[in-house]
Amino acid sequence: MPVAVVVGMQWGDEGKGKIIDLLSEEADIVARYQGGHNAGHTICFDDKQFVLHLIPSGIFHPGKLCVIGNGVVIDPAALVEEMEQLKEAGVDLEAQLVLSDRANIILPYHSTSDKSRESESRFQKIGTTGRGIGPSYADKIARVGIRTCDFLDESRLRELYQANYREKKQILKNLYDIDLPDFEAMFQELMKFREVILKFIKNTHTLLREAIAENKKILCEGAQGTMLDVDHGTYPYVTSSNSTAGGACTGLGIPPTSINRVVGVIKAYTTRVGEGPFPTELNDGDGEKLRDEGHEFGATTGRPRRCGWFDVVLARYAVAVNGIDAIVLTKIDVLDKFATIKVCTGYKYKGQVYDEMPADLDCLENCEPVYAEFEGWMANTVGITSYDELPEKAKQYIEKLSGLVGVKFLMISTGPARKHTICLGSLF
Ligand code: IMP
Repeated sequence: MPVAVVVGMQWGDEGKGKIIDLLSEEADIVARYQGGHNAGHTICFDDKQFVLHLIPSGIFHPGKLCVIGNGVVIDPAALVEEMEQLKEAGVDLEAQLVLSDRANIILPYHSTSDKSRESESRFQKIGTTGRGIGPSYADKIARVGIRTCDFLDESRLRELYQANYREKKQILKNLYDIDLPDFEAMFQELMKFREVILKFIKNTHTLLREAIAENKKILCEGAQGTMLDVDHGTYPYVTSSNSTAGGACTGLGIPPTSINRVVGVIKAYTTRVGEGPFPTELNDGDGEKLRDEGHEFGATTGRPRRCGWFDVVLARYAVAVNGIDAIVLTKIDVLDKFATIKVCTGYKYKGQVYDEMPADLDCLENCEPVYAEFEGWMANTVGITSYDELPEKAKQYIEKLSGLVGVKFLMISTGPARKHTICLGSLF
């Protein structure tokens, strides 16, 4: 039963899209298990670039089935837009895409509520993508959400939507003085999307469990990263789902005992978008250089990403929480022009050095990183495909990181395209 989970180890944007696209070659099924169109998975091949938000990153491999699991929150408008782009690119969606019948959907009042809350100074700003992710998951947990299976019965869908609409209308009016559009107009718009989506809705639980029984290779795709996980991340500055490996079980209906590999994806430095603590953040020339060299701007919102050095405390925490047994190191080429490279090995706070991730935000916000320094290789590594061809000092950096984190590297990414990769092992 070859089932592998691929997770982000930092605050998202580790380059999972490229890696999942590559690893998909080895899989029969690629299944996304959480998040929504807050994610932006960038894939480059044949001199083209695609940014996927909802559809799994295996979609560009004909014959691979792509599953959107029950743990994902689906905005029908965003999904239909993405489907149209892929159809234009020649993807046979009917042969390759299925949606869980148990996924909750995002409706226009969710993004209105998300954006309104974020723009009011009386509420704590998280720096969300404004896509309605938090409010939609909140409805799911409050047991008032609308699911994809509700699309099957039009009158039930109307009933559920109307009940929710009435409640949200009052809340939005009272809290933010916002008027929702007329219900009938909103419902008819949803019906247009329903028309497109309906035939893709399936019982993906059964499909995945049957695939496991048939020994098919399943790659579970996580979005965001460990530090954005609602339980294990830098709460409350997190997203609203379980982006860690456990989310693959709840978000796909795959039993934990079926998972036999967890791959972590981590950048050779650290970035985050939105608010929240970031111990190794650099507010100096090195931070700007990382942003420029790494083109660190959000794939979904275009926001500049905050940049900083590699954090071993965070990486080890991600290994522990996810049970990571192989790591993919990305964007090593971004460090090509740094004469000195730093790596954080501990957080110094109130006279104590922490080598384990603290829950306390005050510690994370005010600690002083303890750094180990490395001499940079100051040479071009873009596009290198063989480990032996890397500069000696780059190899030393990579080996030191692997030793500090305690896990071997499966791949090293040296550029955005599929071919810019050093493969050191196979997924299954
Ligand atoms: P939300 O997921 O839109 O509610 O945003 C919550 C936090 O997660 C914000 O800091 C976002 O910037 C961050 N976030 C959400 N999705 C991603 C992603 O795919 N990459 C990086 N950060 C993300």
